Amino acid sequence: MIVVSGVTGRLGMKAARDALRAGGSALDAVEAGIRQVELNAQDHSVGLGGYPNILGEVQLDAGIMDGSNRAVGAVAALRGFAHPISVARQVMIRLPHVFLVGAGAERFAAEIAAERSDLLTPEAKQAWLDRLNQYAGVRPEELPTHPDLVTLVWRALNERQRGGTIDFLALDAAGNLCAGVSTSGCAWKYPGRVGDSPICGAGYYADNRGGAAACTGVGEVAIRAGTARTVSLLLQLGYSVAEAGARAMQDLALPGAGRGSIDLLVLDPQGHAAGFATDPGQFLVITPEMDEPEERERVTVSAPPNSREYE
Ligand code: GLY
Repeated sequence: MIVVSGVTGRLGMKAARDALRAGGSALDAVEAGIRQVELNAQDHSVGLGGYPNILGEVQLDAGIMDGSNRAVGAVAALRGFAHPISVARQVMIRLPHVFLVGAGAERFAAEIAAERSDLLTPEAKQAWLDRLNQYAGVRPEELPTHPDLVTLVWRALNERQRGGTIDFLALDAAGNLCAGVSTSGCAWKYPGRVGDSPICGAGYYADNRGGAAACTGVGEVAIRAGTARTVSLLLQLGYSVAEAGARAMQDLALPGAGRGSIDLLVLDPQGHAAGFATDPGQFLVITPEMDEPEERERVTVSAPPNSREYE
């Protein structure tokens, strides 16, 4: 049994471990861990306190996958609810669908009495106002009828932005894998923009026959490359976690893909974990026997050629 997350998952690692200790499934562990991160108002890339889109709305994306049967639940552009990862899991459980977006996702969340939340904290709101003023050159009251949000989004994105987002992978006592991701997405994004986090095969994938993987970073790149599914299939074909992750990272060399900055986590059914990133960094692991999560180094794979940063 093991849980793996990015470093911003530190405050959810013990909740995830405790779920496994209590006999819970890998899905329970992933959901429990991510829920803690979604409540952290200081993390501006996930849940409460997440930076909003260009209109000042916090739109959340999340997805979760069960490696035992490849069941999936996902939501995107969800506003006003505290735990998109739990709403995503309920999509998996209660509906004949795998993915809800926007108004439909919000209606479903209300119908299942999911916890509501005013996600735009004063700090995040001020950061948005500063961004509009300094970079986009527009006042908030002009936005509802502004004819050219495209230009405003490009202006707002005018410096390098590391992706945030939280990803968890888990392997439970029954040998089942789970992958889950939750995010407020790219700060100052065009309304309705969806990244890789809720897209099965891009931001996350879990399959007991091969392994689990999840991505954080510039989601447009992971969507185009189908990164998480690539890793899982390579594992199924017999590659090690080190080989599968490295090959998937190399596959991110997409012409014109924006900056190809992606962090990747990989876990196989034997509990072998690995982390990869386009810049140096760490990831976390914890097992039921451990008191504290252990920090491990990610393998650095340089930014792909032909990529460029936001400018
Ligand atoms: N990887 C998160 C996003 O692009 O929204």
